[in-house]
Amino acid sequence: MRNPRDFFKPLAIDAPEPIREIPFKPSRMIHFMDFSNEKMVAKVADLAPTVDILLGNLEDAVPLEKKEAARDGLIKVGREMDLGDTALWTRVNELASPYVLDDLNRIVTEIGDKVEVIMIPKVEGAWDIHYVDRLLAQLEAKAGVQRPILVHAILETHLGVVNLEQIASASPRIQGMSFGPADLAASRRMKTTRVGGGHPGYRTIADPDPDNPDAPRPSYQQDPWHYSIARMVDACTSVGALPFYGPYGDIGDAEGCETQFRAAFLLGCVGAWTLHPNQVPIAKRVFSPEPAEVAFAKKVIEAIPDGRGVHMIDGKMQDDATWKQCQVMVTLAEMLARKDPELAEAYGFTTARSGEPAPTAA
Ligand code: GLV
Ligand code: MG
Repeated sequence: MRNPRDFFKPLAIDAPEPIREIPFKPSRMIHFMDFSNEKMVAKVADLAPTVDILLGNLEDAVPLEKKEAARDGLIKVGREMDLGDTALWTRVNELASPYVLDDLNRIVTEIGDKVEVIMIPKVEGAWDIHYVDRLLAQLEAKAGVQRPILVHAILETHLGVVNLEQIASASPRIQGMSFGPADLAASRRMKTTRVGGGHPGYRTIADPDPDNPDAPRPSYQQDPWHYSIARMVDACTSVGALPFYGPYGDIGDAEGCETQFRAAFLLGCVGAWTLHPNQVPIAKRVFSPEPAEVAFAKKVIEAIPDGRGVHMIDGKMQDDATWKQCQVMVTLAEMLARKDPELAEAYGFTTARSGEPAPTAA
């Protein structure tokens, strides 16, 4: 077992010191782009201000003959484009792939000061994170990168789900996790060809009515992802990291996408992947708390300044715990309002508190 005193020491001479708190910035959507496509690169300047995180995808959905072009395109975007306060992330190829070593080597040494987070697909256990952790430290040292690049694990293998807690606590670089329903379904041999969302075959049904056994029986679709997403939220939040829902593949089904995103938001996820510009406003709407909820939370906090005791507000019992729930809502709303004047107005925060330090995920 590693000496706990060494956990926050760099893993290579001259690598930057690991960070202690994960910065929590607006993270409502991780917008996936394939920078091998020059038309997509041309859209970056217009798109960047509309999303919280822009991700150059190098893994699945990028065909083999475009892998190097996607990497070159990402490096060009990192070097040449000003993304303002939009974060630049990448998803590298899986650790078993012949491309990943060059992905990591080139990204860290050429744009290591621009890329904030590297997504590692198909993580199976802490050993995958340990490998990436040391390698990143070596590359950061080589390139003179001043702050550690963070690591985001995609939860999309059966073993990854079994080893969730160890993955989350494998390194201080762990920024968060995303839920990958497509690979996870395949890895578990689930019988669905959908990417996220429910399935009409996964449902419960009421007992037959004994007096009318042939009458239609009420039946409801269930959520096949609930268990794993909830486990991911626990594993992430237990170490101060951020959980995200991943992709929703049916681009034309805005309502299905919104429902999937909202279920993840309610369980504790901070954002989701957007695969198409149509999904960006959905993520923005869902992962920004509703103004009415924020107004109620503000009311509770104002009515109970010390957060103690039991109170009735609008007929609802409030105590120390509900006060903390309200703090979660208002802290998120304040952070988003600092970025988005429309939200600031909707939440009734008249003065944007721009100079404040970003809150952490803890
Ligand atoms: C995402 O990568 C997924 O497999 O769903
Ligand atoms: Mg996947």
